[in-house]
Amino acid sequence: MIVVTGATGQLGRLVVRDLLEKVPAERIVAAVRSPEKAGEFAAVGVDVRRADYDDPASLESAFAGAEKILLISGSEVGRRIAQHTATVEAAARSGARLLAYTSVLHADTTPLVLAPEHKATEDVIRGAGIPYTFLRNGWYTEVYADTITQAARTGSFIGSANAGRVASATRQDYAEAAVAVLTGEGHENKAYELSGDHAWSFPELAAEIATAAGRPVNYHNLSPERHRATLLEAGLPEPVADLLVGIDAGVSAGLLAATPGELRTLIGRPTTPLAETVRELLGGPDR
Ligand SMILES: NC(=O)c1ccc[n+]([C@@H]2O[C@H](COP(=O)([O-])OP(=O)(O)OC[C@H]3O[C@@H](n4cnc5c(N)ncnc54)[C@H](OP(=O)(O)O)[C@@H]3O)[C@@H](O)[C@H]2O)c1
Repeated sequence: MIVVTGATGQLGRLVVRDLLEKVPAERIVAAVRSPEKAGEFAAVGVDVRRADYDDPASLESAFAGAEKILLISGSEVGRRIAQHTATVEAAARSGARLLAYTSVLHADTTPLVLAPEHKATEDVIRGAGIPYTFLRNGWYTEVYADTITQAARTGSFIGSANAGRVASATRQDYAEAAVAVLTGEGHENKAYELSGDHAWSFPELAAEIATAAGRPVNYHNLSPERHRATLLEAGLPEPVADLLVGIDAGVSAGLLAATPGELRTLIGRPTTPLAETVRELLGGPDR
């Protein structure tokens, strides 16, 4: 059995859909917080089991009979070390022969905001004694979906990333990498630094949006203080504003710019170009 947690999330759904292309549905477990959201998978014979990172007993039963488990990192920032620890402990007890975990680029060394919970989770996994694969995902291009659609409408967007670059790839690219690990062999106790083939800057993103939208689009670079103040004025909660400014500081420092090509190697094709994702987000090539 191959068990995928967070299978009703955006990445998780892509992983299970891709797995279905490679292994029989009866060998797949969608381990989810809310089974009622997994009808798409139950309908084709995937075993849907409840697995809440806050409920160790649910994890225990969700992992029964697992050979390989993919732990998709949770979305509740600040609560994830405890949640992931419970999940790792249940995975180790299940007797599975591999635990793959969606981490972040250079989790062990990066000063990137958001990285500490991933580093702590990796440490827990290493200590748990179960063979592991760290899928150290860089940024999803879709993280910028709102920025892209709003910029296409208004003609501008803001940030404080300076000329920093982001080697993003799509969720589909990262999902295929996870499936390559879950269906392949020889990935035990490895950390893959996964990122897009090309690292782009915010001015380059502006140019791609302009091309796809057929109108001029400008990137306005602000100081971190001005960026934060503007986000707060726009009504964002303080922790969200701090997070976004912190991420741009990381981009500015080049923390998301690495292009080692490991994602491309795992999925056996180039990663999805920025221009393609921008075009899709803005409604397709004919727009
Ligand atoms: N690299 C990047 O750019 C980037 C960007 C955003 C997020 N991430 C990380 O990658 C993960 C997957 O991304 P995504 O886009 O698929 O995020 P997403 O759509 O928000 O999915 C998160 C998944 O985690 C599940 N989850 C959250 N808390 C849980 C809990 N207590 N117990 C069980 N499941 C729980 C959610 O369950 P429900 O379906 O029930 O809500 C959902 O399936 C995120 O959770 C986050 O850690 C990375």
